[in-house]
Amino acid sequence: MSNKHSKDADEKLIKDHDYDGIQELDNDLPNWWMFLFYITVLFAIGYMINVSFMENDTDAERFEKSWLQLEEKRNKGGASGGADEPSTDPAILAEGSKVFAGHCATCHGADGGGLVGPNLADNFWIHGASFKDIQHIIAKGQVDKGMLAFETLISPDDRYKVASYVVSLRGTKPANPKEPQGIEYDDQNNPIDGNASSSDGKAPSPDGKAPE
Ligand code: HEC
Repeated sequence: MSNKHSKDADEKLIKDHDYDGIQELDNDLPNWWMFLFYITVLFAIGYMINVSFMENDTDAERFEKSWLQLEEKRNKGGASGGADEPSTDPAILAEGSKVFAGHCATCHGADGGGLVGPNLADNFWIHGASFKDIQHIIAKGQVDKGMLAFETLISPDDRYKVASYVVSLRGTKPANPKEPQGIEYDDQNNPIDGNASSSDGKAPSPDGKAPE
């Protein structure tokens, strides 16, 4: 290699550039070097056009967007991973009713009228009437009273569907309704004072006052 070098060097020597015996060569730049150089020039042109004229998000806009996405994610999961509002979509409720038939009907009756478990169609609730309360009892259960914790038994998706279905049962007329248990709630899910059911008068509502 050094051989070849010195030979080229002879040909391209710049004769009048000789300083104290140090000679200067005038070799062409290698093709690969020129190739890279042209690529960087093209890249620079493309980059300038992109930054100056195309409608790209600025850093601030990109930050804003990912922040919104994060907020969205946070709002989805409540304490027990549930959503804030029950679904009223007939397709979701139909799937919820299937989950109910498979996992809940043995204790709550096929129409939610209650068997071992309480009537889910009336306005009386032991563990609270709100959608949050219902999702909570389904997820965490009340094992000592016979209500299973479905958190580990069915998916969050199925819990949401069946909880929505339970909400939709309220106000329906089951064939053999079980006597009321817990305390009565109005349509806004506020406890109605002094209206505790006879059954055992226990369990203050998680979000209301205890009955007298
Ligand atoms: C093994 C029997 C059993 C099964 C299966 C069962 N439950 Fe229950 N459930 C109960 C009992 C018993 C209670 C009452 C707990 C108490 O007294 O604190 C209850 C309470 C509830 C409550 C609260 C009612 C109230 O008055 O506050 C809801 C809602 C509920 N169950 C929904 C469901 C759903 C939905 C399923 C199916 C995914 C299900 N349960 C499966 C026995 C059961």
